[in-house]
Amino acid sequence: MRVRNKYRKPTAFPCNAGSRCSMSAVVWSLVGFLLVLHMYSRFSNINAVNGDIQLRMSNHPLVHELEQVEKENIQIPHRKGKRSPRAAKRRPKRTTTLIDEFLDENSQLRHVFFPDMKTAVNPIKDSGNDSYHYHPGRIWLDTEGNPIQAHGGGMLYDERSNTYYWYGEYKDGPTYHAHKKGAARVDIIGVGCYSSKDLWTWKNEGIVLAAEETNETHDLHKSNVLERPKVIYNENTGKYVMWMHIDDANYTKAAVGIAISDYPTGPFDYLRSQRPHGYDSRDMTIFKDDDGVAYLIYSSEDNSELHIGPLTEDYLDVKPEMQRILVGQHREAPALFKYQGTYYMITSGCTGWAPNEALAHAAESIMGPWETMGNPCIGGNKMFRLATFFAQSTFVIPLPGIPGSYIFMADRWNPADLRDSRYVWLPLIVGGPADRPFEFNFGFPLWPRVSIYWHRKWRLPLSWRASK
Ligand code: GAL
Repeated sequence: MRVRNKYRKPTAFPCNAGSRCSMSAVVWSLVGFLLVLHMYSRFSNINAVNGDIQLRMSNHPLVHELEQVEKENIQIPHRKGKRSPRAAKRRPKRTTTLIDEFLDENSQLRHVFFPDMKTAVNPIKDSGNDSYHYHPGRIWLDTEGNPIQAHGGGMLYDERSNTYYWYGEYKDGPTYHAHKKGAARVDIIGVGCYSSKDLWTWKNEGIVLAAEETNETHDLHKSNVLERPKVIYNENTGKYVMWMHIDDANYTKAAVGIAISDYPTGPFDYLRSQRPHGYDSRDMTIFKDDDGVAYLIYSSEDNSELHIGPLTEDYLDVKPEMQRILVGQHREAPALFKYQGTYYMITSGCTGWAPNEALAHAAESIMGPWETMGNPCIGGNKMFRLATFFAQSTFVIPLPGIPGSYIFMADRWNPADLRDSRYVWLPLIVGGPADRPFEFNFGFPLWPRVSIYWHRKWRLPLSWRASK
């Protein structure tokens, strides 16, 4: 029998004559009210600062074409050869996915992922209607008619010469395995550099940091690993500073290397390598903020998390401060950018040269906390989106003049022949409601969506090029 405690305080409040609402209803209303208040103050804050409304699809007229959702319908071919009914009973036929086909050197779909020289993009030839078009995955020729060699690359916009410089791994050598189970590799040749005014026509500026041929103890000895070089300019010292991933063939050194030059086209002097903050460092990038402070971001603790910390004023070292971010998320290939005071980052998962799902992250402060937003890829088909269009992030290029628009630069690795790896450049747009709850902020998205749109073929708006 329930005994009523006459001393107990009532758990319901009188609301109006004749009706009573429960305590929980009041508490929930209060929580709801606080949440709405919190969201309102966050957005009105952002809007007040930027004079813009964040939660809407980008409606910049130049961007509409880039935001078209383009579908891919690729039929996976049937495997040749008949299986005996008995074999079929024993082991049901494994269905292959597009990713299996992509990784299979002998796939009948090879030409879809790695189209041959006949379809190469050649900016020097009169390309007619195809001028200035990007064709993700096609061979891309420089002004001398050679395939561009700038893998795992990064872009520097040099304000002194109004020129873009694309730096990347020059991998034009044979692919082999140093060890049976080791990753496919090409000996270090050096860092390639290409220059352009229009982000489409690229002149080869040569190898700006070359491998060391004889001294086996040198970081740049050809038997080692040099990946993901990135260059920024230091206003105080007037030097171009390059940071890169330096490793041995087994990826156990896990360090960063630093080089310096007076000119964007080098030659760069190699200074040294180090384990930043004393930690292992593999995939990495550097990011120069609007206030001139630059940061190093690297995968650490065996790629289980990323570390971020500011560089010294001369950009030649890290400062002692460091934050662990995306802890336990196993992300690599970081590419950072900033839009209206918010920092964004695209990362990949850790599956070597094989493609996997990209994620977008955002932060109010570059040192964190960073929140994971979800897969930014739009269009193609499900497999395209789950494999980042069969590519891996390396850099995000801002497009001044088209707010919220960027070029997403990624590598479509070809582990069977790394020099034949392709570039996947696609429009990246910040705008519109986020599609997945965040980890913090009570599941309410704080930032607009980051979207990377698949296109077989696309170009930058004409007016953008005209303004260059
Ligand atoms: C990837 C990494 C590349 C390269 C490759 C080697 O995960 O992003 O830069 O290191 O592994 O397998």
